[in-house]
Amino acid sequence: MVKDKLERWNQAKSVCLRCSACPLADRRTKVVFGEGVLTAPVMFVGEGPGEQEDLQGRPFVGPAGQLLDRMLAAIGLSRDQNAMICNIVKCRPPGNREPTAEEGAQCLPFLRAQVDIVRPRIIVCLGATAVRHILGPEARITRVRGQWIERKGFWITATYHPAALLRDASRKGQAWSDLQAIRAKLAELGLIPPESADT
Ligand code: URA
Repeated sequence: MVKDKLERWNQAKSVCLRCSACPLADRRTKVVFGEGVLTAPVMFVGEGPGEQEDLQGRPFVGPAGQLLDRMLAAIGLSRDQNAMICNIVKCRPPGNREPTAEEGAQCLPFLRAQVDIVRPRIIVCLGATAVRHILGPEARITRVRGQWIERKGFWITATYHPAALLRDASRKGQAWSDLQAIRAKLAELGLIPPESADT
């Protein structure tokens, strides 16, 4: 099964690396497809690559990424062991602007393919942009964070984007409770041992 997932992942990735469907392709250094474990029970979805990600071709490797790694570690997750990390758009929007609705829509088939291959039980939207592109243009992070929405067999939730937490540390308490809720959901679904949910 993992071999099949790997083949499908590599196939989708190779199409993505050649993609020129939207103007973001013109200015990218590298496509940032996503990385993590193909059997991960949980997928985190950010907005789009920043400067460091564009240079390295890997998601969340700049300052926000370092915070994300620490957030994941706090609940026993890591991109090496049990988490998948993707973005709404796979190419850096110039100056780190928000991707447009059209850019997001052009790129969405890649995220759909990633979800279809990994089949995570939980999808965590990181920030307002991921919330809008995944749950719809009217969805707001302030209302969705801390909630669980079941859609097509996936449990979807949201928390603040780590870059937003770097800008405004006063939200860290809420983000911490979101992380605890993700850990509790993983335990409830039998995806991590219950005892590790209590520690
Ligand atoms: N911000 C994102 O949304 N994604 C990345 O990969 C890096 C920073």
